[in-house]
Amino acid sequence: MENLIYLDNAATSWPKPDKVYAFMVDFYRQCGVNPGRSGFDKAIEAGNIVEDLRKRLTAFFGGDEDTPERLCFGYNATDALNLLINGLLESGDHVITTKIEHNSVIRPINHLVRDHGVEATFVPFDVRGFVDPEEIRQAVRPNTKLVIVNHGSNVLGTIQPVAAIGRICRELGITFAVDASQTAGMVPIDMKAMNIDALAFTGHKSLMGSTGIGGLCIRKHLEIRHTRSGGTGVRSAFPYHLDEYPFRMEYGTPNMVGIASLWAGQGWMEKFGGVEKIHEQEMMLTRRLVDGFRQIDGVVTYCCDSLDNHLSTVSMNVEGFEAADVGIMLDVDFNIATRTGLHCAPLVHEQIGTLPLHGSVRFAIGPFNTIEHIDTAIEGVTEINERAKARTAAPAR
Ligand code: ALA
Repeated sequence: MENLIYLDNAATSWPKPDKVYAFMVDFYRQCGVNPGRSGFDKAIEAGNIVEDLRKRLTAFFGGDEDTPERLCFGYNATDALNLLINGLLESGDHVITTKIEHNSVIRPINHLVRDHGVEATFVPFDVRGFVDPEEIRQAVRPNTKLVIVNHGSNVLGTIQPVAAIGRICRELGITFAVDASQTAGMVPIDMKAMNIDALAFTGHKSLMGSTGIGGLCIRKHLEIRHTRSGGTGVRSAFPYHLDEYPFRMEYGTPNMVGIASLWAGQGWMEKFGGVEKIHEQEMMLTRRLVDGFRQIDGVVTYCCDSLDNHLSTVSMNVEGFEAADVGIMLDVDFNIATRTGLHCAPLVHEQIGTLPLHGSVRFAIGPFNTIEHIDTAIEGVTEINERAKARTAAPAR
């Protein structure tokens, strides 16, 4: 819609850079054939971009650069997390995760607990929205096989101390996996330095790619069982799914338009000046937004007292309204797109006490937001807050 102020970048970044749109179309028009299945020139060219992107993303995430085939593509982070969780845990294993997780971790784990004899511990976060690495250590049992943590909360925006958690896991010999849905492309990640064994990412958020592309970057010492099977394009006479990477974690024809979008997104990020530069710009706007909200008596923000170790994602509520009411008014009266509700992270809302309000209103800033957008959002919330106050002040009929 014309003049829409889009503040739902934690759901998906929008718009994408012009260069990403252009490259998706050009690439698909010129080279949209099936990679790795045939030997004609276009198939090789299509395969080359896939392999090049594996290398670029492995380097980008600080994975093992000598094994780029362990950067495996899937649909999104949920897909990657399912492959990871179901491919690692077996009956009798214990997994440690946190209450900051998204349903993409909570639900696969809950299924394994309910149906397959896996044990799980959900470690809480503190009042500032951070998980204490020492609580993870204390939750370890003799059968703990996996620790899996959401790097950046899609509700609170807090960035978890993954390097400290990684150190503990390495010390104890436990596999450490990170859900980087909200952080990949927003904050620097170095799997080797942070002792991350497997990293799930999605392409359609801060990596500036399209929907339908994501994946798993797996360090070379970690083996994950394949839990699906199908076409790989090579060794077709073999009756089972292949064990070698990337085939082990990839099934069927890949999303080539998505791969092209991610490839172009990487180029755009480099031109912008890198992740740090993008984050700096987004955090400048986030500070302005939070400062504006602080001036409004009646607005409650969650875990924003300090914006250190924070993403450009802010959750809030307006006293007197449910979250969804505020979202509708922002949309209809101010043309501002936010996301309201539980954000697929019910345990976060349970812990911060927002279940009775049916969640919170989430503002998620992206690289194309401006100071004007933020100021309009503050004005909109100010007016909505006045409506809330007028409602409370109105005499009962
Ligand atoms: N997980 C995405 C969000 O937080 C869709 O909105």
